[in-house]
Amino acid sequence: MHTVSASASCHNNSQLPEMTSIHQLPPATAHKLSMGQVVTSVFSVVKELLENALDAGATSVDVRLDDFGLDKIEVRDNGCGLSPQDTAVMGQAHYTSKIRQLDDLGSLSSFGFRGEAMSAVCASCDVTVATRTVAEQAGRLVTLGPDGAVVSQKPVARAQALMAATAVSQPRLRLTLHHNGAQLLHKAPCDSAKTAAVQVLKSEVARQLQPLTLGDDLLRVEVLLPAVDAPPKVAGRSTADQCFVIVNGRVVNYRAVEKVLRRLFSDRHGLTPPKVPVSVVQVTVPPALLDVNLEPNKTRLLLLCEEKLLSLLEDGCGRLLPGAGTVDRADRPVHRAGRHHALLAADG
Ligand SMILES: Nc1ncnc2c1ncn2[C@@H]1O[C@H](COP(=O)(O)OP(=O)(O)O)[C@@H](O)[C@H]1O
Ligand SMILES: [Mg+2]
Repeated sequence: MHTVSASASCHNNSQLPEMTSIHQLPPATAHKLSMGQVVTSVFSVVKELLENALDAGATSVDVRLDDFGLDKIEVRDNGCGLSPQDTAVMGQAHYTSKIRQLDDLGSLSSFGFRGEAMSAVCASCDVTVATRTVAEQAGRLVTLGPDGAVVSQKPVARAQALMAATAVSQPRLRLTLHHNGAQLLHKAPCDSAKTAAVQVLKSEVARQLQPLTLGDDLLRVEVLLPAVDAPPKVAGRSTADQCFVIVNGRVVNYRAVEKVLRRLFSDRHGLTPPKVPVSVVQVTVPPALLDVNLEPNKTRLLLLCEEKLLSLLEDGCGRLLPGAGTVDRADRPVHRAGRHHALLAADG
């Protein structure tokens, strides 16, 4: 038993230090003091980050130190990554994905479980996290403050999505994307759009994409679509971020094409809301059927045979996705003044 007896008494001893009144430490100071026990040196930061990488299932970890780790410690792993929701709380004290209650310690198989390390690192270092889960094409870059809260969040989505699409459209190109030293994309030269897609997307769905060639010498369409038995939950996505449309080697956002694929795929699998399949559509037409000179930055182009392209996709992809319904004619673009053209926005 532990008892504290408190009584007020008057000391008249001038040797004693003068006490100020009791006050609560500011939360940030208290946090720093308690977290100082977890992170005591470069060694302990490396140890905690390394263990987090292993707990995340990494099979590859790179650690880079600047000035013996006193300037910068960078740990890069190929583990499961963090979803946007988890990224938001990873630096908060006692937030962990590894246990839910004390009893779970009996069956613990991870290095971490206290949910303290990231919080402690945040209390003593400037922390930047670049992360992405396998379900996402683009990751996010987050700066965490001393209290572990997200200070700024910069999605690298746009640049990364463009780089990924460019990688698929240019198989022979070696392409990497780094931000603040963190590698977000790495593609080695290869000889097909499918291999490039596998490198960029790193998914089973990408590995099992099925090829289909449509059209003729004037309009050639090469399509990669998910295998018929690919689980629709992973083969289909709520956005078109993994539907790469490439016209004469140029990456474009081609909504009419996305719409056809979304409809066929969703009909095939009975999906509501509908989803866009992970896919690659490479269109080759004579340059005369294309106008890329609509805007100075060449982000939009005009395709003069869109009607034919959509019909080919509808019929051809319908065959590769058995059971898919026919695309509603209302999905077809409106032809202004009878001209066969569509505007393609390469920039969203
Ligand atoms: N490299 C990483 N990859 C994926 N998730 C991570 C990584 N590092 C940390 N996390 C996530 O952040 C959480 C908090 O990390 P941490 O503070 O070290 O706590 P703990 O490891 O004790 O759970 C972890 O539970 C984990 O879900
Ligand atoms: Mg940990």
